[in-house]
Formats: sequence, C-alpha cells, structure tokens
Amino acid sequence: MKYETQKVALPFFMVAMALFTLQVVFGLLAATVYAFPSFMTDVMPFHIMRVSHTNLLIVWLLIGFMGCTYYLMPEEAEREIHSPNLAYLQLAIFAFAGAAALVGYQFGIHEGREFLEQPFWVKVLITISFLMFLFNTSMTLHRGRKTAINLVLMLGLWLAAVFWLFAFYNPTNLAVDKLYWWWVVHLWVEGVWELIMASLLGYLLIKMTGVDREVIEKWLYIIVGLALFSGLLGTGHHYYWIGAPSYWQPLSSVFSTLEVAPFFAMVVFAFTMFWKGSRNHPNKAAMLWALGCPTIAFFGAGVWGFMHTLSFVNYYTHGTQVTAAHGHLAFYGAYVMLILGVITYAMPQIRRVQPYNQVLNMWGFWVMTSGMCFMTFTLTFAGVVQTHLQRVLGMNYMEVQLQLELFYIMRLGSGIAVAVGAGMLLYAFFGPAREQVPAGGTQITAGTGSA
Ligand code: HEM
Ligand code: HEM
Ligand SMILES: [Fe+2]
Repeated sequence: MKYETQKVALPFFMVAMALFTLQVVFGLLAATVYAFPSFMTDVMPFHIMRVSHTNLLIVWLLIGFMGCTYYLMPEEAEREIHSPNLAYLQLAIFAFAGAAALVGYQFGIHEGREFLEQPFWVKVLITISFLMFLFNTSMTLHRGRKTAINLVLMLGLWLAAVFWLFAFYNPTNLAVDKLYWWWVVHLWVEGVWELIMASLLGYLLIKMTGVDREVIEKWLYIIVGLALFSGLLGTGHHYYWIGAPSYWQPLSSVFSTLEVAPFFAMVVFAFTMFWKGSRNHPNKAAMLWALGCPTIAFFGAGVWGFMHTLSFVNYYTHGTQVTAAHGHLAFYGAYVMLILGVITYAMPQIRRVQPYNQVLNMWGFWVMTSGMCFMTFTLTFAGVVQTHLQRVLGMNYMEVQLQLELFYIMRLGSGIAVAVGAGMLLYAFFGPAREQVPAGGTQITAGTGSA
C-alpha cells in the first residue's frame, strides 16, 4: 500500500461483507419458503424476506464500489484521498440509511417498487452520501493524475448517480412508471456499472500482470464503447409487454443481443492480459477472481441474458424462474465477484502482510461459485418446466409451482453451499493471517506493496 489513505477502504469492505452475510441469510430464508411454503409464515412474510435480500445486495454492492474506489484512487491519481473524514462520515450515513430501510421493511414500511422500495427520506440520505462520495473522489482525481482507469471509473459512478435520480420519479401510470424504473435498474447493471466493472478489472490486471498501461487502456475504451452502444437501446428488452410502442420488439431484440459483446470482450481482455503478462504476482487468489469474474459474468449476463432476450422467446419466459436464474448468475459474476476480487487483492496490502490464507480463499471461490452455478441450473430447469406448463399448456400458476418442488429443494441446497463458501471467504479475509512465503518470490513489504 503506497498511500496511507488507501486504508479508508477497510471499513467499507467490512460493512459491505457484513451486509453480504445478511443478504445470504435472507436469501436462505426466502429459498426455504419456496421449498416449504408454510415456513415462518406467521413471523415474516415472503415478500419481506425478498425485499431485504435484494436491497441488501444493492446497498452492499454500492458500499463495495465505494471501498474499491477509495482503495484504487490514491494509486491511480498519485495522491492521498481528499478527505478521509468525509469518507467515514459518508459511509456512516449510507450504512445508517441502509439499516433504517432494512429495519423498516420488517415492519412492513416500504414503497413497493421492486429494488427501489426504500422510503423517500432514505433515498434522500443515500443521495446525500453518494454525492459526498463523488465529491471526495472527484476532488482527489481533479488534483491528481488522470488515467483511463480512474476516468472511466468516475464516469461510471457519476452516471450511476444521474440514473439513480429516476428513482425519485414515480408516475402514477403503471406503464410510464415501469418505463423509467428500468432507467435505474437496467441502465445501472447493463450500462454504467459495466464501466465500473471494466475499470476495476483493468486496475487488477495492470497490477497483477504487469502488462503495459497503454494496452489495458485500449481495451477499456473498446469495452466502454460496446457497453454504452448496446446497453442504452437494449433497455427496450423490458419494454416488450408494458404498453410501449411495438418497435421496441425488433429494435431491442437486436441491441440487447449486442449486449453480450462487452461481456465477451471482458473475458478475452482478462485472459489475454493474463497470458501476455510477464509478472508472476504472489496473490494467486486475486488473479483467480480477476479471471473468474468476467467468465461467470459472461455466462450469467451474456449467455443467460441472451437466452430470454429475443422478444419471441421472452413472450414465453417473461417473469418466470428463468429470470431469477439469470438475475442470480449475472449479479454474482459481474459485481459480487468483482468486489470480492478487489478485496482479495487489497486486504494483504491494507494489513501490510504477504498474500495470506490463499488456499482458503480459493476454496471459498470454488465452493461459492459452484453453489451459484448449481443454483442457476436448478432455477433454469425450473423455469423451463414452468414456461412450458404455464405458458404453453396454460396450467394455472399455483398448480405449476407444485411441480417445481424438487428444483426448489435443490436450490435451497445450493444456497447452503453458497453460504459455506461465503463463510470461508470471510474467514480468509478477516481471520488471522497465516503467512505463506512464496517459493522464490520476493517479499512484499510496506511501501512496495502496490506492485
Ligand atoms: C451484469 C449484468 C446483468 C445483470 C446484473 C442483470 C440482472 C437482471 C435482473 C435482476 C433481472 C430481473 C429484473 C426483474 O426483477 O424483473 C433481469 C432481467 C432481464 N435481463 Fe438481465 N442482467 C444483466 C445483463 C443482461 C444482459 C446482457 C441481457 C441480454 C443479453 C439481459 C437480459 C435480460 C432480460 C431479457 C430480462 C427480462 C426478463 C423477463 O422478462 O422476465 N440481462 N436482469
Ligand atoms: C444463499 C444464497 C442465495 C439464495 C438461497 C437466494 C435466494 C433467493 C430467492 C428465494 C429469491 C426470491 C426469488 C423470487 O422472488 O422468485 C431471490 C431473489 C434474488 N436474489 Fe438471491 N439468493 C441467494 C444469493 C444471492 C446472491 C449472492 C445474489 C447476488 C449475486 C442474489 C441476487 C438476487 C436477486 C437479484 C434477486 C431478484 C431476482 C429476480 O427478480 O428475478 N441472491 N434470491
Ligand atoms: Fe436489462
């Protein structure tokens, strides 16, 4: 760790991981209800488990992005964070807002718009905190070195804030409501968050492979161009059945198919850099995450996204378990693995030790990733059966659900595997650091640890 203020990232990583743990717990509860429908009915209704699960996800991913930015920015901008105290304050506000929303949900207080259920005042606090974050990091960048990595990262974060503003616009007409709702939900994950993903991956790859910055930057621009070109008009793959004009059906079938391209480019990018790289970085676990993230994102977002994105396919699969399968693997591959990868890379440097607990970390990687993949497969099978029985044969919804029980039990099982993998990772990150001296490797010491 070259710069003292990079350690600002640590509390962000800790809060993010605490919320991730809670997210998995609520996921397990919701999955248990699917398998055993009377589970906890008197204590906590399913929709409260679900809203807690999805909101925790969004909140911890955002806190994770902030932590990654605070960690990366000093090195890229070659100067200390503008104000560490502002960062801590901003984290406290964000965490308080997230916690307040979560507690409120348990009492049934929410605004009922999927993913954007937070009460108005919570949304305001989130906005204030995010603006403080943007100010703090932008000031650091403004006074420091500008690189493709920190510029693309900040562009992604600023655009995320701009689209977030549509969360405040809630028209009464349901069709218009949905139209703008996707400007937050779709344009985040299939637009501007991809800029965050590409730049953080670029950062990890520069650090770990030693490939020239110029090469990484060219790739970055190509990926950003592809993401924005396809993702904006791709939004219309959510406009097929909400009362929007019918031209969205051919238009977005084409453009959302192109959305596969940036995800594919990121896989090629990561592996090409890995093979070209001259440096043998001691943090093998971080390298594994940096390769795994674009790979799983390509399958989750690209392949599983394409599977149901053509309007004549989506006509049948819309809102079935196929969607849930895709949602899980895409979020996991693109954004969960990304942040876990940066944490894996950053923690030894923040703690000023050699890369530690590498084997446990990699076990966590494989157990959790296998669990998520298995969950995706079971939900996909459930979704295909559901689509056929419900949409082709016209059986009624609840009758169909009874036919899917076996898949839901297997999903619960894979969820338990995910939880076990997450436990291993948390211990690997925050538990005692067991030293591993790499064979013939150089010792990383404070001051040179950014290599
Ligand atoms: C990392 C990127 C992505 C993430 C995190 C993501 C996540 C999600 C989630 C959570 C949903 C469900 C939304 C809801 O609650 O209704 C969804 C829906 C959808 N996604 Fe993605 N997605 C990503 C990329 C893609 C890509 C690249 C494609 C197309 C190639 C795609 C195609 C779709 C379609 C067609 C739907 C609507 C499903 C339906 O009609 O029920 N997604 N996505
Ligand atoms: C122990 C692991 C997990 C279990 C058991 C689990 C279970 C569930 C369940 C039961 C739902 C509700 C589905 C519905 O309403 O039909 C759900 C929704 C969701 N979960 Fe998870 N989950 C887990 C982990 C994760 C992780 C790690 C992520 C992020 C990568 C995630 C992202 C989501 C999303 C985005 C939705 C909304 C999906 C949609 O609208 O289609 N979950 N999860
Ligand atoms: Fe989308």
